[in-house]
Amino acid sequence: MEGLARLEYRGYDSAGVAVVTPGGLKWAKRAGKLTNLSTALKENPLPLATAAIGHTRWATHGGPTDTNAHPHISADGNLALIHNGIIENFNTLKDELAADGVSFLSETDTEVAAHLVSRAYNELGDLTAAMLAVTRVLEGAFTLLAVHADRPGTVVGARRNSPLVVGLGEGENFLGSDVAAFISQTKSALELGQDQVVTITADSVRVIDGDGNPVEPRAFTVDWDASAAVKGGFATFMDKEIHDQPKAVADTLLGRADKSGHLALDELHISESVLRSIDKIVVIACGTAAYAGQVAKYAIEHWCRIPVEVELAHEFRYRDPVVNEKTLVVAISQSGETMDTIMAVRHAREQGSKVLAIVNTHGSTIPRESDAVLYTHAGPEVAVASTKAFLAQITACYLLGLYLAQLRGNMYADEIRSILKELALMPDKIQRVVDNEEQVRDVARSMKDATSVLFLGRHVGFPVAMEGALKLKELAYIHAEGFAAGELKHGPIALVEQDQPVFVIVPSPRGRDQLHAKVISNIQEVRARGARTLVIAEEGDTAVEPFADVVFRVPQTPTLLAPLVCVVPLQIFACELATAKGLDVDQPRNLAKSVTVE
Ligand code: F6R
Repeated sequence: MEGLARLEYRGYDSAGVAVVTPGGLKWAKRAGKLTNLSTALKENPLPLATAAIGHTRWATHGGPTDTNAHPHISADGNLALIHNGIIENFNTLKDELAADGVSFLSETDTEVAAHLVSRAYNELGDLTAAMLAVTRVLEGAFTLLAVHADRPGTVVGARRNSPLVVGLGEGENFLGSDVAAFISQTKSALELGQDQVVTITADSVRVIDGDGNPVEPRAFTVDWDASAAVKGGFATFMDKEIHDQPKAVADTLLGRADKSGHLALDELHISESVLRSIDKIVVIACGTAAYAGQVAKYAIEHWCRIPVEVELAHEFRYRDPVVNEKTLVVAISQSGETMDTIMAVRHAREQGSKVLAIVNTHGSTIPRESDAVLYTHAGPEVAVASTKAFLAQITACYLLGLYLAQLRGNMYADEIRSILKELALMPDKIQRVVDNEEQVRDVARSMKDATSVLFLGRHVGFPVAMEGALKLKELAYIHAEGFAAGELKHGPIALVEQDQPVFVIVPSPRGRDQLHAKVISNIQEVRARGARTLVIAEEGDTAVEPFADVVFRVPQTPTLLAPLVCVVPLQIFACELATAKGLDVDQPRNLAKSVTVE
């Protein structure tokens, strides 16, 4: 149950557990959050056992009901199975099983796998062999775990296109879709490859490949501990993760440049000559990660003079993109498990492009399937709304841009050094913005009845505006839009009426020519039409004052690096406004932390 609680961020519309005892298989499952299952287990405890499986679900096939919750049980009541992912050919398999007389209790694709593994076990008499045989007929994405009444000390698992890791304990072993599941028991882990089947007991771990041959999985040590995965004294994970941001940025910068400012990105296994020959970068990502990509576009194009396109991963492969061996595809993902991004990575590699992943989760699918990886070191992000991962992604993009500029000779060493120096100052600047949270929270509480909020930004302020709007939508369920400030007069300004709240992200007055002045004009345009303006501006920027109803100050920062500070008040605002409305900021409705289906 403790492990499930740590994984609840992956899906939380129902949960279930099954235990195998010498007396047979027992299980419990409940719709709703994990607390419903806990309550049920308190009323009717399961017997003690030495092997168990558990699952939290995010519905794909069949609504979130007790019956559709996992585990699913075979018709003879002897086998319990849990599943992440989608079995794409489940309808055909279901028809075949139904023709054989199997009746189905749930609407899930998972139940098909439970019946198939049970049938294979009855034929083969071996749970591992049964699991292997079934993975050969399943199509799609799955992590499967099964226990059988005949095998009280054994759990068998398999994975394809969906994560599964092994935790190695002493006299105990674990399987989890993420190391968070077993982090309080062990930091020693094994990474499982595509189509592998794993069999664990208390003192053994056996892994075979899709042909049944033994394989030696790659071992790794988890570099964060259980305390990082709990709220650390904050009311919510989101609060904690907002406060983690200075460290997330500092850790992501750590060890990437030597004393002379020479960058070495050692996880970057693409040859220097290939990186010198690329003529285009395409960033693929979804949601917040895609906004990090948009910030990257401004920085990398400016520093490296390479064209950068940013594409939503789910649009990428369906539009026949022009990418080839001269394109560097950069896949950005916190979880490393976003199915839309995984499919885009595969498509890019099929076209001959090299793929570099910027990912936060070690052992996840995207880095495994990419040519190189630049890990962000934000630590586990549990709240569904991404905060610290976003800042770490932007930081990693800057490092990539500077590295490419160094390699391709676009910038002088001293120019790179001075930007690295500015970057090193960012954790303290972010901390200063976080320290000013009470001002933002007061304003947020006063706006809890708002029904629509607009966000405007130019240049790197544009993706920040969109991220501010996304945070507000997903946390506070308020209609919010982020616009490029210059686009306003082409239509969106019609939305502005008396007292319409409008956030404006104001660029540094010391930055690009005209940029600051243009945004000041945009504030005036909306204010003249009755808007209530909430302005994010640098300390010392007095030009905004006559036109701002509220000013949130951020430290003076070079234009390209400003998103790292400007987005923070917007995160705090959304978090506090949602809290004031009594909403669950860690687990907003209809969402899951990792979107592992297309
Ligand atoms: C928003 C949010 C999502 C994710 C998106 C991509 O707060 O969290 O928009 O950014 O689903 O997820 P990753 O980064 O895991 O690929």
